[in-house]
Amino acid sequence: MADIFDKKPIAVIGEMAETGVSPYYRTAEPNAVMAGCNDYLGLATDPRLIDAATTATARYGTSCSGSRILNGTLPLHEELEARLAAFLGCEAALVTTTGFQANLAVGTLLGPGDAAFSDMANHASLVDGVQLGQGTRFRYRHGDLAHLRRLLAAAAPDAGKLIVTDGMFSMEGDLCPLPGLRELADRYGARLVVDGAHDIGLLGARGSGVAEHFGMPGAVDLLSGTFSKCFGSLGGLLAGPARIVEYLRYSARPVLFSAAMSPASAAAALTALDIIETEPARRERVFDHAERLHNGLRALGFATAPSITPVVPVHIGRSRLCLRMWQALHDAGVHTNAVVTPAVPRGRALIRVTPQATHTDEQITRILDAFAGCGRRLGLVAGRAERAEHDWTPVALARPKLTG
Ligand SMILES: Cc1ncc(COP(=O)(O)O)c(C=O)c1O
Repeated sequence: MADIFDKKPIAVIGEMAETGVSPYYRTAEPNAVMAGCNDYLGLATDPRLIDAATTATARYGTSCSGSRILNGTLPLHEELEARLAAFLGCEAALVTTTGFQANLAVGTLLGPGDAAFSDMANHASLVDGVQLGQGTRFRYRHGDLAHLRRLLAAAAPDAGKLIVTDGMFSMEGDLCPLPGLRELADRYGARLVVDGAHDIGLLGARGSGVAEHFGMPGAVDLLSGTFSKCFGSLGGLLAGPARIVEYLRYSARPVLFSAAMSPASAAAALTALDIIETEPARRERVFDHAERLHNGLRALGFATAPSITPVVPVHIGRSRLCLRMWQALHDAGVHTNAVVTPAVPRGRALIRVTPQATHTDEQITRILDAFAGCGRRLGLVAGRAERAEHDWTPVALARPKLTG
């Protein structure tokens, strides 16, 4: 008889055992530079968010102890939803317990006979959301509009069609081709869902995300997002036309059957929204750091393309080498993310570096120095003098317009 537990190997354990490197589930080292978290604006430790969370906890308690629909709705959730709808330029918004659940809820829109078209590099939560829905699923090659067009053209004309994509991709930091996606959605009568987990709060003149970055307000039919990145909190969101948000409010099982976002998280997210709306200098600062990292790493001989954003992917290649590089950086006091197979295709392992608005210039220098030293030791890049003979092109970052 087969034991089902014996059939569950951990995908990266082989490489971890061979290299003796274990970069996952590590607690942060107090003296290391944290260069691998998604708190791009540095708000998770902002005293204003901490105050708001403390006050809300004192007033409402530590937990809502139930789902939004029955007993878990607070004035804080309602205020957050109204503020988000205005900020994102949507008719309505719904806040969820996590961003993962917001994406799972997207699957609720897919009924029998419908068709979903997903970018192959979408976040796991969006993949699972589509998987939970009914109908047919198609995956188009990452950012490949020609491939998507062929799939849309081949779908049954009367199928309800949903195109789903990350706005800013979480591992390589590149942006979805929004203008082309909108054009295809219009041509084939599809609706466009964008997960703005990494770009809401960061991109665009007001920080409202990828549609604003492309100067295309209203281009997204349904937005999902999270408060665990730019908002320094925990929770998720869905925003779009009122009739669809209401439909999800009453039909999406990840919303209906899960306890509401905690009072502390909701209050922190509201305060973060105040800061995002009034302190564009934070976005300016994080893009300054990103530009320095991209250009500094490229000058050293590392490949950071195609990202143009504060998710800086440093391409290493083999998973084992990536784990060794992660360990070397860790020993040098810099905490990064090792992204290896199966999270990326074989041979495409990378170190993911993410600056924060609250990093100092010295900390960015420390990150670059660590990459230089570790990269040379592992033979990933040549020495500085040799490297100076090579050509490298500074990254022209497509920075968001941060004013007006
Ligand atoms: C692109 C993307 N979508 C959704 C999520 C899920 O968000 P949350 O952490 O709120 O569950 C994440 C977080 O890892 C993400 O990177």
